[in-house]
Amino acid sequence: MEKLVIEGGIPLYGDIRISGAKNAALPLMAATLLCPGKHTLRNVPDLRDTCTMIRLLEYLGVKTGREGDVLYLDSTCLEHDDAPYEMVKTMRASVLVLGPLLARCGKARVSLPGGCAIGERPVNFHTAGLQKIGARCNIEDGYIQAEAEGGLKGGTVYFDLPTVTGTENLLMAATLAAGKTILKNAAREPEIGNLVDMLNSMGAKISGRGSDTLTIEGVCALKPADNSIIPDRIEAGTYLIAIAASGGAGRVTNCCPAHLSSLVEKLRQAGLDIEEGESFISIDSRQGSALTSVDIQTRPYPGYPTDLQAQFMALMTLAEGNCTIHETIFENRFMHVAELRRMGAKIKTDGRLGLVNGLGRSGLRGAPVMATDLRASSSLVIAALAAEGRTDISRIYHLERGYENLVEKLSALGAKVWKEQE
Ligand code: EPU
Repeated sequence: MEKLVIEGGIPLYGDIRISGAKNAALPLMAATLLCPGKHTLRNVPDLRDTCTMIRLLEYLGVKTGREGDVLYLDSTCLEHDDAPYEMVKTMRASVLVLGPLLARCGKARVSLPGGCAIGERPVNFHTAGLQKIGARCNIEDGYIQAEAEGGLKGGTVYFDLPTVTGTENLLMAATLAAGKTILKNAAREPEIGNLVDMLNSMGAKISGRGSDTLTIEGVCALKPADNSIIPDRIEAGTYLIAIAASGGAGRVTNCCPAHLSSLVEKLRQAGLDIEEGESFISIDSRQGSALTSVDIQTRPYPGYPTDLQAQFMALMTLAEGNCTIHETIFENRFMHVAELRRMGAKIKTDGRLGLVNGLGRSGLRGAPVMATDLRASSSLVIAALAAEGRTDISRIYHLERGYENLVEKLSALGAKVWKEQE
């Protein structure tokens, strides 16, 4: 197994080009199951998770090919209508094939994802929503067994909580349902807007994009897609925080600043100079001047994203003063705390509250630490870049799920970072 080694304490300077968003690529790839034909997706990041989705689609019968960041998917003939446990357990987002398979094949059998490091993460809203539009869903032998013999029928779905992949599954399924479907209290993440645009370009009739109420007028058939994946706002946010933590200055380019408003506001409150262009955000930590402690609370979009909570906590360990980090989305998303403490951070937790006692910019020391999930791992990278001395981060396969060319991108900013065998 490989580990990541970082010699910290070096300010990062330069531009970094942001890749396509993992959490947009996965639903858009699944959406190619909806209709037979040759689809093209552009700006697709080359990540462990997108490779897992390619493997699942290939198992289902989709022929795939990649040229650079362009992915070709030929979904003319499907061979299976099930997603086996072996695949779903390595990536929960595999559940995104449930809606499109059900819509196209009239039935689908998708393994229940099981537990996850950051929380229980049930999929009950997905199945309850599909039932509202005419599917019968049973759990049998660890699998969701979904059927819609006479086809799906429009209906009204109210989500108890805005669910990102739940909204995406229902959107995909409802495009081919008879009649009108209304999704209320739907998630509003930009990745959902990306999926709506793709489905509409395929001939779907979806209105309400960007709002919490989406209306889908079912159509009889769709045509193949040629669409582009939006920039990864979480990757962009992670690099902005990394530059800030290192005491440097730089820009994330090829990104969408409007998708990062909540983070930009918090970084400004922390005392960082930020400028936003049409497709870039620059950040200057003013030669490592003191950082102000800032509270955050994670919320569904457009609130502060849970996927940038761990990274911001790492930054706050370097601030002057105390702050609270409130994780409201997932019940166990503080796995990074114990590892940050190994580097000298002063953090207490009380349920979903993290209380950070900032140590100032020179507060962290390098240490051996372990990556536990994707975003927790990126917070360790940020802490390691700011810390004095060497940090060894083991289990970096978590990072490879969501950050394309991490070592190359950080090295280009001047970081001393490399991979070694454990
Ligand atoms: N929830 C339920 N029942 C459901 C679905 C969700 O109770 O059927 C709860 C969850 O337990 C959670 C809340 O609703 O408390 C919101 O979860 P959501 O369904 O929105 O999460 P998700 O769709 O499984 C996506 C991202 C996550 C990101 C969350 C929240 C993808 C592929 N994954 O997950 O990304 O953290 O939304 O924004 O889009 C990551 O990239 O590191 C990651 C974990």
